[in-house]
Amino acid sequence: SQNEFKSMLEAHALAANFYSHLLLNTVEGEEALQYLEKRGFTRERIENYGIGWSLHDREALSGLLKRKNFDMKEMERAGLCIMKDDGTGYFDRFRGRIMFPLRDDNGNIVAFSGRILHGSKQEAKYLNSPETPIFEKSKILYNFHNARLNVRKTGKVILFEGFMDTISADRAEVTNSVAVMGTSLSDTHLLKLKRIAKELIICCDGDDAGWEAAKRFSEMAMKKGMDVQIALLPGNMDPDDYITQYGGEAFREKVIGNPHSFMSFMMAYAKRSKNLSYENDVLQYIHEVLEELSLRSSPVERDLYIRQLSSETGISAEALQQQFIKMAGQQS
Ligand code: GTP
Ligand code: MN
Ligand code: MN
Ligand code: MN
Ligand code: MN
Repeated sequence: SQNEFKSMLEAHALAANFYSHLLLNTVEGEEALQYLEKRGFTRERIENYGIGWSLHDREALSGLLKRKNFDMKEMERAGLCIMKDDGTGYFDRFRGRIMFPLRDDNGNIVAFSGRILHGSKQEAKYLNSPETPIFEKSKILYNFHNARLNVRKTGKVILFEGFMDTISADRAEVTNSVAVMGTSLSDTHLLKLKRIAKELIICCDGDDAGWEAAKRFSEMAMKKGMDVQIALLPGNMDPDDYITQYGGEAFREKVIGNPHSFMSFMMAYAKRSKNLSYENDVLQYIHEVLEELSLRSSPVERDLYIRQLSSETGISAEALQQQFIKMAGQQS
């Protein structure tokens, strides 16, 4: 209901203030604050993004919500609290985590993602709010509300896998970026982006999961008719790692400023799993590239990438051209 909606938003605003206060002004938050500072977060950026800290105490937020007369059943439905096994009360969903508020398109806080401070095998690195009446995961993109104006101005939107990357990009003065929460991107997300920008630059992590995500995201976005390019990072770096190591200018110019076309990305993708000094790998590589190329209609693209393929493999462009025609013929 309208009332429930309103009190869930109020509770999230209250929780965010509470978490922020704990991070910035209390002894309990000191270690988390130092951690963030070591990762390059300024106090100003911490405040702008509303970042906070949740205590290890099991009932810190639940107690506060109760004292403020929030309906605790509703707070459980809002994803902030969980009912104790014996049904005698509620405890906090988020404990001992750095808290990142997630906002809807109007800037209301509708959920949280909490990061553990220290790597641990037992606990997930990030814990997110569950789906709730105010938080539909397939609709929310991190930083959408904040980036919208700059996206419209530039006609371009940059898509990251993790919200840490979006906050780092801001540090690099790239302010037209949003992030999915990990590797799930929905058609609803893409339609939201398409409404405000024609061009999409996908910039996923440099690890295997990131390459797979970049491929999947680009295919989805091209299906929606967006102009897609893919920005690649060296090694296993993610955008945040890159900015920390090489700085914002390098990120703007070499990564975001130098994105690959989908075809060029696909060639790099196909090469990743191969060693082109092996004959079999070369043949497989040629097959995959020509197959991808047969899906494109532009003769200029064909010519460009066949010549590139030729110089990479040492096979003549004429032979590749013939092979291509043969393959295309078999497909129809
Ligand atoms: P840092 O390690 O703090 O730099 O974070 P990151 O942004 O590099 O995270 P990573 O590349 O591992 O993951 C990208 C995104 O996937 C995160 O922003 C999360 O939304 C999501 N994610 C990662 N790990 C987990 C997890 O353990 N649980 C859940 N639910 N989501 C996760
Ligand atoms: Mn990753
Ligand atoms: Mn990452
Ligand atoms: Mn990272
Ligand atoms: Mn095949």
